[in-house]
Amino acid sequence: AMCLLQYLSIFWILHSALVVEGESPLSCIPRRTVPHHRDNGYLFREEGVSNYSTMLLREDLGLLVLGARGSIYALDLGNISHKKASVKWDVTDQQAKECENKGKDPQSHCKNYIRTLHTMEDGRMYVCGTNAFDPECDYMSYADGKLTLEKKAEDGKGKCPFDPFQRYASIMVGDDLYSATSMNFLGSEPVVIRNPAGIRTEFKASWLQDPNFVSMAQMPESDDSNEGDDDKVYLFFSETAVDYDFYTRLVVSRVARVCKGDMGGQRTLQKKWTSFLKAMVDCPVLEFQLPFIIQDTFLWCEPQQPWKSCLFFAVFTPQSMALPLSAVCVYSVSDMSKVFSEGKYKTPEPVKTSFVKWVMYSGDVPSPRPGACIDNAARKLGITQTLDLPDRTLQFIRDSPLMDQVILPKDGKPLLVWRGAAFTRIVVNQVQAADGEKYHVMFIGTEDGTMLKAVNYDGEMFIIEEVQLFQPPEPIKVLKFSNVTGHLYAGSEFGAVQIPPANCSRSLSCMDCVLARDPYCGWDKTTAKCTAVSDAQRELIQSVKQGDTSLCPHPAPVKPVNQSMEVGGNLKLHCSPPSNLAKIRWEHNTLPLSPSTRFLFLHDGLLIFNASFADAGRYRCLSVERSNTDNYTTTVAEYQVCRDSCAGSGQGKALLPEAQRGGPSVVGLQAVVGLLVVLLAALLAWNLWKGHLPVPWRCNDKSGAGQGANQALSQQGGHNSSVTQQQTENKPLVSGADNGRSNNNHTGGEVVFSAAQDENVSAKVDLPSMKYIDDESEI
Ligand SMILES: *[C@@H]1O[C@H](CO)[C@@H](O)[C@H](O)[C@H]1NC(C)=O
Ligand SMILES: *[C@@H]1O[C@H](CO)[C@@H](O)[C@H](O)[C@H]1NC(C)=O
Ligand SMILES: *[C@@H]1O[C@H](CO)[C@@H](O)[C@H](O)[C@H]1NC(C)=O
Ligand SMILES: *[C@@H]1O[C@H](CO)[C@@H](O)[C@H](O)[C@H]1NC(C)=O
Ligand SMILES: *[C@@H]1O[C@H](CO)[C@@H](O)[C@H](O)[C@H]1NC(C)=O
Ligand SMILES: *[C@@H]1O[C@H](CO)[C@@H](O)[C@H](O)[C@H]1NC(C)=O
Ligand SMILES: *[C@@H]1O[C@H](CO)[C@@H](O)[C@H](O)[C@H]1NC(C)=O
Repeated sequence: AMCLLQYLSIFWILHSALVVEGESPLSCIPRRTVPHHRDNGYLFREEGVSNYSTMLLREDLGLLVLGARGSIYALDLGNISHKKASVKWDVTDQQAKECENKGKDPQSHCKNYIRTLHTMEDGRMYVCGTNAFDPECDYMSYADGKLTLEKKAEDGKGKCPFDPFQRYASIMVGDDLYSATSMNFLGSEPVVIRNPAGIRTEFKASWLQDPNFVSMAQMPESDDSNEGDDDKVYLFFSETAVDYDFYTRLVVSRVARVCKGDMGGQRTLQKKWTSFLKAMVDCPVLEFQLPFIIQDTFLWCEPQQPWKSCLFFAVFTPQSMALPLSAVCVYSVSDMSKVFSEGKYKTPEPVKTSFVKWVMYSGDVPSPRPGACIDNAARKLGITQTLDLPDRTLQFIRDSPLMDQVILPKDGKPLLVWRGAAFTRIVVNQVQAADGEKYHVMFIGTEDGTMLKAVNYDGEMFIIEEVQLFQPPEPIKVLKFSNVTGHLYAGSEFGAVQIPPANCSRSLSCMDCVLARDPYCGWDKTTAKCTAVSDAQRELIQSVKQGDTSLCPHPAPVKPVNQSMEVGGNLKLHCSPPSNLAKIRWEHNTLPLSPSTRFLFLHDGLLIFNASFADAGRYRCLSVERSNTDNYTTTVAEYQVCRDSCAGSGQGKALLPEAQRGGPSVVGLQAVVGLLVVLLAALLAWNLWKGHLPVPWRCNDKSGAGQGANQALSQQGGHNSSVTQQQTENKPLVSGADNGRSNNNHTGGEVVFSAAQDENVSAKVDLPSMKYIDDESEI
């Protein structure tokens, strides 16, 4: 029984080590993984209330207004755990009954999900909720520490979706509400509408076809415009493409825009947009791959700079989640604006009988230009408002609101490609680092409730950290940044959290602080602390582009820990890599140790089986982390292992019950290890055969940013098979030396051991994911 216990414990150790490995994604490894912890930030949630997915920053009132299911909260912007006020907005029994009678689920659909929250000119707020599939809007104010709804019960049709599961977008400009949602109960009549005027899209497949609305933003394009142009509202969405001949439904990403001054046409396009133009937005992650689908955007405008320098950061996910990749692409607003103001149109051209093909329009374009705002040129023709536009211009735009040109990201490639939990939301902040340069830091929410923090340093993508915001891991549904508090606010079905953009105190050493390459943090030599650049009193050591730690003071030597060992027994020496990009090496009496039957390299330490006299001595655990300037080696732990017992050592550190010397249990132990090796080798072979083990691509690499564009897609087989990428350019993803067995930085540490039978074969196993093994539990 004792032996059995022993085998089981070994199996458990191996298993837990493997599970730890399985957590880490295969590429673009975040340097640090921060697990969920109360101290990561402030949490707000109320018992019995869910779906915290709408947020409004009221920096003028010091509030975060949070919309959930049946409730709206006014939270302290500086500490959202502190609720200042709340107001309930539930559906009436009558409304719930009607909703249920129409065949909707009383527990999920027939509730009031707050979906629209905007500030009006007079400081009140405009709020809409799905209201049991009968959307309604109201005015709300905050005064004397109280939130009050005016109970105006305005019709919310076209302002807020009926279906709480449907995506929507809206923006308040002045007191005009621009919204993109579905107008009807069935969710089948999409509309982009401006209220109160009620200017809307034509109900035609060429305008909108099964759209998924994502986001809206306004652009002050009339500012210093030589053409006397109008301000615009941009809308991002995805829809079924009408313009592609395809066997199946193909979804594409789009950007559309309308002019603020649009009042519709006189006869043609009455009460409809005369300026609705749209274009495809592409984020070319993989060649020969279906287009990726836009999920969220963030508009970044440089303060005090003209609108032309504004950028849209957008997150994309693949058409099918069988491909676990997400990407960030960045678009220049002036590129977009140019496509709309100068680009060619696409028009439907009937071929054969019923089939329509969309082609570039090369005929004469009517004047004024279809879809253009009223500008000086139009005014010269006596056209001062859209009501004056000639029918020819209006008919053209009614039939072909689509631009021929595709909008491509800056530099033609994604900024970041990530294999892992799908991206859901993005926020970007700019920070001035110690070198005086300003960097865009991206904060990206995922389906797993984590937030990535990433920076692109001159084309090199670097993921500083991944923080688990929610436990349970709920998808991030909303993400905001306040430039007043400098904090991030994230909402999920479970609750809302507020977190600072950096917590420098997570780095305890200068080396770690500098290798983190976080523009928010630097090492203060005087206080010997990793400090926020914004609070720094003195010059800090920081090297965001290079990760150069040469200015760091020499670390204090590590104190060796005495550890006793029993001959024939087993021993574990603990040592965890300080970062996901570091590799662990072991030395025994200053000689490098390699993994073998008796020395098992685990993620969190070294396991020695059947210890012998010769195993006593000095053990040193070294971490090697690669940066752009050097490979940095630090001593993480040191052990003095002595026979029998030595001063200050604990027998308690011995891991397993001692095996009897040469006894049958040791033989058994080795047999188990041997068996496991065979089993794992078999799994590996099987996985390779099934194509389960994808080849990682490196992110923390000069070529990292754009390498997505160079990926040649080699195979995408069955429904759960993954894709193998190959780099076609000069930077090999997998060179002979780098392939798994070397200390390349792509996994957070690998389980390496050699076959028990043959020391020479040294079958190193790099198991990237336990998940695959769990899947195939029949083995
Ligand atoms: C934040 O607010 C909560 C609830 O009011 C309070 O318990 C907590 O002490 C506050 N934290 C800070 C740092 O002010
Ligand atoms: C609301 O939250 C629950 C979990 O708390 C989730 O199951 C449900 O899908 C959410 N509803 C909507 C409309 O998002
Ligand atoms: C915060 O951002 C707003 C625009 O969103 C801007 O008007 C304001 O000046 C910014 N405030 C600070 C303190 O940067
Ligand atoms: C930073 O993280 C530490 C734990 O690593 C925590 O104790 C501390 O409260 C955090 N600080 C902030 C400002 O969140
Ligand atoms: C770091 O080590 C890798 C191999 O592990 C090597 O290819 C690379 O040249 C080294 N870099 C420096 C700067 O020494
Ligand atoms: C470890 O053992 C040595 C003698 O073997 C002793 O001098 C030393 O003080 C011990 N260290 C600790 C930390 O107990
Ligand atoms: C344990 O090691 C000793 C020598 O150090 C050896 O004689 C013995 O066979 C080993 N036991 C096993 C099970 O390999």
